[in-house]
Amino acid sequence: MKIAFFDTKPYDKVWFEPIAKEKGFDIVFHEEKLKNNTAIMAKGCDVVCIFVNDTVDKEVISTLKELGIKAILLRCAGFNNVDLKAAKEADIVVLRVPSYSPRAVAEYALGLLFAINRKIHRAYARTRDFNYNINGLMGMDLVNKTIGIVGTGKIGQAMMSIIRGLDMRVLLYDPYPIQEIIDKTPESKERWGANVQYVDLDTLLKESDVISLHCPLTKDTQYMINKDSIAKMKDGVLLVNTSRGSLVNTQDLLDALAAKKFGGVALDVYEEEDEYFFEDMSDEIISDDDLVRLTSYRNVIITSHQAFFTQEAMEAIANVTFYNIECFMKGEELKNIVLP
Ligand code: NAI
Repeated sequence: MKIAFFDTKPYDKVWFEPIAKEKGFDIVFHEEKLKNNTAIMAKGCDVVCIFVNDTVDKEVISTLKELGIKAILLRCAGFNNVDLKAAKEADIVVLRVPSYSPRAVAEYALGLLFAINRKIHRAYARTRDFNYNINGLMGMDLVNKTIGIVGTGKIGQAMMSIIRGLDMRVLLYDPYPIQEIIDKTPESKERWGANVQYVDLDTLLKESDVISLHCPLTKDTQYMINKDSIAKMKDGVLLVNTSRGSLVNTQDLLDALAAKKFGGVALDVYEEEDEYFFEDMSDEIISDDDLVRLTSYRNVIITSHQAFFTQEAMEAIANVTFYNIECFMKGEELKNIVLP
């Protein structure tokens, strides 16, 4: 079994190569992303393995089929970058890693929240320049403030566990809520605290001092943060997005930032990230004016889709990816199959 890995970095080799050797898989590592003009690089392989910013559309699927590719392994949870219908029609199986370390993402989201609230990124830059002035670096106590968590799946729940210690009021929105929280059972209070409740999205937007996004990118959630939803938020609200860039309409966000609506915005994802994130662009001219403008706001932190990036997560991603392909080879039940 020969697997073509796309969009790889040195750390992918570190985690995948030893397990591949142990299990007898042959891996070809490509730095290029999988897209229309690179799909041909999968020639001679049986399977491709991709990451969050590879583009597997109809054309790519058609090339992969011609090359005899039998499966697409996503070494991530999200699958919004794969045309699942086209893959099914081409009889190519799509497998993902549904959960590797929800805590990794939740801990990172919290890190971004603390940083954007207390302006730690600005303080760091100042003291590197021996500027010890704290003017403009004031934040707020989080205790007794309201945090809105959009999406209470694995990462949203990890977030809820951690923030119990912050004594915040917690508002939740999810079209598929956790029943025990709605029922306010003793077990729920024990697990999540008494200050947690589901509300409709409008209430969450209106009453939250902090909003953290933990839902997938779908047709329904695309641009859920837009001109209208931003208008409903409190002035000075802090927004954290570690989910997918296109949950936020960047133009509307930029307008709101210019109007001083936000106290701070922390983005680990960006809707046009695939050209930039994970790459060293420090010697290049950045032609994405929106990204440049966003980066220029002092109350905005942008990081390069690294919320998942812990040792534990990388180990789990590598193990589950090989587990998926082994199940496929042995004709066993495909627990992590993604269907249209
Ligand atoms: P999950 O599938 O366990 O939970 C997602 C939750 O969102 C579900 O409870 C679902 O009902 C809910 N949801 C669906 N539509 C919604 C809507 N319109 N409004 C509010 N909630 C809605 O997924 P998990 O593991 O918690 O991951 C969430 C997202 O985090 C992923 O889809 C992915 O985009 C992102 N992610 C980002 C990473 C990073 O490194 N920045 C790493 C891993 C995931």
